[in-house]
Amino acid sequence: MTATQVRSAEPPMPAREPVGRNGVANFDVDRVREEFPILAEKVYGKPLVYLDSAATSQKPLAVLEAMDTFSKTANANVHRGMHALAEAATDAYEGARKSVQHFLNAKHADEIIFTKSTTEAINLVAKSWGKNLAAGDAIVLTILEHHSNIVPWLQLKDEKKIDVHWIDCDDAGNLNLRTLDEFLAKKKVKLVCVTGLSNVLGTKPDLASIVNRAHAAGARVLVDAAQLAAHEAIDVQKLDCDFLALSGHKIYGPTGIGVLYGKREILKDMPPFLGGGMMIGEVTQDHFTAADPPQRFEAGTPPIAEAVGLHAAIEWMGTLPRSEWEAHERDLVDHAGKVLSAIPGLYILGHQGNQQPANKLTSNKISGCLSFTLEGMHPHDLTDLLGKQGICLRAGHHCTQPLHRRLGITASVRLSVAVYNTKEEIDATAEAIRMIQKKFLSSPQP
Ligand SMILES: Cc1ncc(COP(=O)(O)O)c(C=O)c1O
Repeated sequence: MTATQVRSAEPPMPAREPVGRNGVANFDVDRVREEFPILAEKVYGKPLVYLDSAATSQKPLAVLEAMDTFSKTANANVHRGMHALAEAATDAYEGARKSVQHFLNAKHADEIIFTKSTTEAINLVAKSWGKNLAAGDAIVLTILEHHSNIVPWLQLKDEKKIDVHWIDCDDAGNLNLRTLDEFLAKKKVKLVCVTGLSNVLGTKPDLASIVNRAHAAGARVLVDAAQLAAHEAIDVQKLDCDFLALSGHKIYGPTGIGVLYGKREILKDMPPFLGGGMMIGEVTQDHFTAADPPQRFEAGTPPIAEAVGLHAAIEWMGTLPRSEWEAHERDLVDHAGKVLSAIPGLYILGHQGNQQPANKLTSNKISGCLSFTLEGMHPHDLTDLLGKQGICLRAGHHCTQPLHRRLGITASVRLSVAVYNTKEEIDATAEAIRMIQKKFLSSPQP
């Protein structure tokens, strides 16, 4: 079997017939779960409850097998050899690029650059596109950003003496877009960097409005879609963003591969990010010319088997009925909001006071995750105790220290969902928190 047979750039398989369980009619979560071998694992003798997919999602068999088959039957380096394996590997790698192009509805395949991760994709923009910035130019960030979409810009601030402006949010996590307008009015803003979905609050900034406002003022927009891509279909042409970054490992694919989407007309004027093999036109002893994008930005041996895995993940996602999948996840987050907010002393971030009616979370604005604190217990202690029961949640600042500082806390616990989770898992988590509270906190809130 050749790599081309392993993974071609064919259109995705038709959506499978839906069945139905766990809240959303026509969505068979049991059948989905069967495709994730790890979900059958026991942890400390207890069934695994994995509610940490915002950190990394689990991988379906289709992805594991595609990578295995590629490595066993078609492994070679890409864009280098004339032999059969080299051609098969190159076809597989470029087929993966086309699949990402379709996944994001990008106009051209050469607008898709493979990176190691979202982090590397954003660094690529900062270090390459950012070279053209001058002292006094400005970048706008939002308080919701992950450190990946903060630190590269702070590095550029130090290096280029640019200004970095911040958009604040209200207590519910809604961005104050009036501040964006004020920054844009100063005419110095060259780029607005915004997450598509907060990895802490689960809130979604109004990307369409941000892109419109920024473009009207002549600024570019970079969307950090690390979380968004796992929960919603993305159309970069419709969105009209200039750059968009995502990670394979958060969308059911492997670690070690990410994507930078950039508009062709912008990429063509950007200098290389890293230097090395494959990113050149010609090299002499004192000079080199750069290849065209995307190769210009893919120096060295790229993540080939990982690209095959990402292609498989995209095809696998294409087999799920999208609207039922999204409804299922919304149902899970709503359910989590309901059962967790009923726990005395548990406060959901963005829903201060714990007085929110259960249906406050049913808004389409919350996706994928929610975070909370539990009175009397540090988030690390809570997740440690939950972990001993096989329940995996994440604690800490989730690489969003500015946001946590804005919310007046240093850490929180995050519960994040993926297509394979169930309401029973969320109930088990809520029950475990109540038990922990009973056992370790002498006087929980009435
Ligand atoms: C919103 C957001 N941006 C960026 C990242 C960084 O992703 P990676 O570590 O895959 O580069 C994450 C990871 O959690 C994230 O949630």
